[in-house]
Parts: sequence; structure tokens; C-alpha cells
Amino acid sequence: MTIAELFESRKDDPRWNTSYPLSPSDWANYRVSGSLPFGNDTRMSFYVHIPFCKQLCSFCEYTRMLCPDEEVQRAYLMAVVRDIEQFKRCYIDFTLLGFDIGGGTPTALSGENFSLLMKIYKNAVSGLNLSPDYEPSIEGTFNTLSERKLEEMSKNGFHRLSLGVQSSCGSVLRLHHRGQSSEAMMSSWLIKAWESGIRKVNLDFMYGLQGQSEKTISQDLELIKHLMPQQVTLYELRTNMISNKTVCSKAELFEQYSQFHEGLITLGYNGRFGQNTFSLDASDEGVSSYLRERMLNGAAYKGFGLSAQSMSSYGVSYNVGKLSLEPQKILDSVGYPEEYTYLLPAQELTAKYLAISAYNGSFSIRRLKEMGVNEESMMETLDFLINQRYVYRGEDDRIYVSKKGFVHYGAIFSLLYSIYSCPVKHFECKKN
Ligand SMILES: C[S@@+](CC[C@H](N)C(=O)[O-])C[C@H]1O[C@@H](n2cnc3c(N)ncnc32)[C@H](O)[C@@H]1O
Ligand code: SF4
Repeated sequence: MTIAELFESRKDDPRWNTSYPLSPSDWANYRVSGSLPFGNDTRMSFYVHIPFCKQLCSFCEYTRMLCPDEEVQRAYLMAVVRDIEQFKRCYIDFTLLGFDIGGGTPTALSGENFSLLMKIYKNAVSGLNLSPDYEPSIEGTFNTLSERKLEEMSKNGFHRLSLGVQSSCGSVLRLHHRGQSSEAMMSSWLIKAWESGIRKVNLDFMYGLQGQSEKTISQDLELIKHLMPQQVTLYELRTNMISNKTVCSKAELFEQYSQFHEGLITLGYNGRFGQNTFSLDASDEGVSSYLRERMLNGAAYKGFGLSAQSMSSYGVSYNVGKLSLEPQKILDSVGYPEEYTYLLPAQELTAKYLAISAYNGSFSIRRLKEMGVNEESMMETLDFLINQRYVYRGEDDRIYVSKKGFVHYGAIFSLLYSIYSCPVKHFECKKN
């Protein structure tokens, strides 16, 4: 197949998005037992997964379950502590770039367990060297916040809080089994968050959901105008991991994104066309330092807790629970070790980086070269993409997806992977 034919065959396929690989079995040949080594990584982030939620939204692709009782929550947190301590016994000599606590819904923990989570965070970072732009972040929902939780976040160093809205439209939310918070309630929580010392609130919105339309997105933009969070993240619905595969066409998704983009720029947010993350402050890319380092530089990260993912310069791993249909059944574990560990060749690590960089609509040529890509041999693919005006070269060392290319961004980024029968060999493997 030529590059053009490969692109044609993928451009309308919803599976090509920020997910990589398409199926875990694609990496079966690289699977090893044991845990992922981090011995080569002097810079990395931490991620802690809290899989508990007050409700289970039907569009959600993350490992999550209804919030169990306080004792089970506590046991889960203590298992995470053991895993963090064990990791720190093996590796200590690195700079911590970021620390995200996500889920699920970390704020769904009871008051007491949330305090414990904050203590766990303080202990986890103690003794570690933090990078100058280190900015930890925590996720939550409006209906699980409390004034005390906000104060504890801020007191313990979390000045970025990410809250999901998804849609301002009650009927869209109801279609996806998600409760609605009123504008007045959201506004009052934002004020309380800012008063508690949270400096950046990010609000997540989705597009591509059933029931969304030009009218509901106008309503979303009106809500953003009233709330004016520091950051907004737009998530295109991914259906790879969920059973409901009803998807909008690429043209519909493009229309919805374009409406959001235009509205956000009018409101004063910064964000290139093709970027998912928007910020009132042009310098922070609209994300935590954990995601910034992953998205812009393909930096290493170590994930703790059920199903959490890790990536080092040797490969990628997923903790116990990743493919579990009933994750609540494995909650009483003493720890959540890596269940699937893949030692990956350079081309696979690069593809993993490229997939996440699609959040930013750009990737770094310098970083690809560092990871082992031979730029000359990649030129045939890049020439095709540049000639078609799907991407353009920035003044820095980055390639940016164009407005024309964004419609098919998943197919575009995928042309640079090699596992999926890419016609051009891009790599001179430096490792393995
Ligand atoms: C880990 S979730 C947690 C946030 C929090 N529990 C909430 O619901 O607000 C982070 C974000 O992922 C996004 N998300 C969830 N499922 C998704 C899917 N299938 N495709 C794309 N984005 C998704 C939602 O916007 C959500 O706010
Ligand atoms: S979107 Fe958030 S609240 Fe809904 S199920 Fe997923 S993690 Fe839980």
C-alpha cells in the first residue's frame, strides 16, 4: 500500500485517535514478566489512579467503579502507599516533573480518606527533587467537592484542579447516565476553589456525544463565558474501550470542535486550532506539568493504583485491573503491581509518544530523533503530509497539524507509526 492509500483506508476510521496501540495483543511479542525498569530515566512524573465514582457515566473509558465503603477506600489507599514506597526504594535519583491524581474521581473519597490521600501525596514527594515547573494536579467532579477538600488540596500543594462538566445540556448528560450540576452551583464551587488558593481550575468538556448539537455547544460556550475557568480541555469521544460505538462522522466532529475553538478564542483562551487544551495563560498549554511533559516531550511516568499505566525509556506497563471486567473484585489486593509489562523497541515507544502528542496537535522532530527516528527515512511520510497541507513545519522543531489535517488527525499521526504496516521504515533502532 502506498502512503496515500494507507491514509485513505484510515481517515474515516474512529479507532485512530490518541489511543495506542489499537489492541493490547499488538504488543504480545514484547511482553515480559516483572516490572518495568526506570533505571535510564532521570526525569519522570507520577500518576495515582483513584477508580471510585459517585456515578458511572456510560461514555467513560477509564477503569472505575461505584465508590465503595470507607474501609475499602482506605485499604485501596494503603495498597497504593505500599506500591509508592516500593518504587522509591528502587529509584530515588530522579527529578519529578509532575504528579497527577486522577481517576475515576479522587474527590469521591470520603473526607477522612481524602485527607489520607493528601498525606500519601506529601510522603510520596518527600525526599524527591522537584523540577522548577512542577505543577501537581487533581481531578474531581462538582458533586463530590467539599470546602475542606479544597482547603486540603491547596494546603498540600495542589493549585490545579480539573473538574468534568462534559456538557451543559441536561438531556445530553441524562443520555449518558450523568447527573447535572446547575450553573449557580458550579460558579459557587469555582469561587470557593479560588478562595481556598487553587490558582487554576480546568473544566473538561466533550464533543461527539449523543444528543450534542450546535445549540448545546453554544450553551456550553455560554457556560464557559459565565464561569471563566483558567483552562478548558476538549475531549473528542473515544469509543475504542466502550461498548456503545455510536459515533459522529469526522465532518460532524470537525464542526463541533470548530465551534468550540472559535468560541473559546473569542472568550480570550489560547489554543491553536487542533489543540485540545486551552488556557487563559498562553504559557501553560492548558495542562498540568505531568501531561505537558508527556504530550510535548514523551517524558517517562510511573502510575500507581488499579490499571494505571507507566512508561519508561524501556517500555510501557499496565497495573493489575487494566483488562478486568469487574475491577471491584480485585480491590482487596495488598498492592497493584504491573500485570502487563512490555519492553518496547524504539519505534513502539515513539508511536506511543506520537499518539499522546495528538492532544497538542503537534510533535517534536527533535524528540523523535532522540528516540531513534531517522528523519531522512521519515521524510517520505512527512513530504506526503506537508504536500497535502495536512501538517506544516513550525519555526521551532515541531510539526503541527493544519486545519485541513485536523479532520483526520488520527490517521495522520498513525502514518508515522510503523507497526501498522507503514510502507516506510523510519527507524534506526538505537536500543535493544
Ligand atoms: C478521568 S476522567 C475523570 C473526571 C471526573 N471523574 C469527571 O467525570 O469529571 C477525565 C475526563 O476524561 C474524559 N473522558 C471520559 N471518557 C471519555 C471517552 N470515552 N472519550 C473521551 N474522553 C473521555 C471526560 O471529559 C473526563 O472529564
Ligand atoms: S467520567 Fe468521571 S464520573 Fe463519569 S464514570 Fe468516568 S471517571 Fe467516573
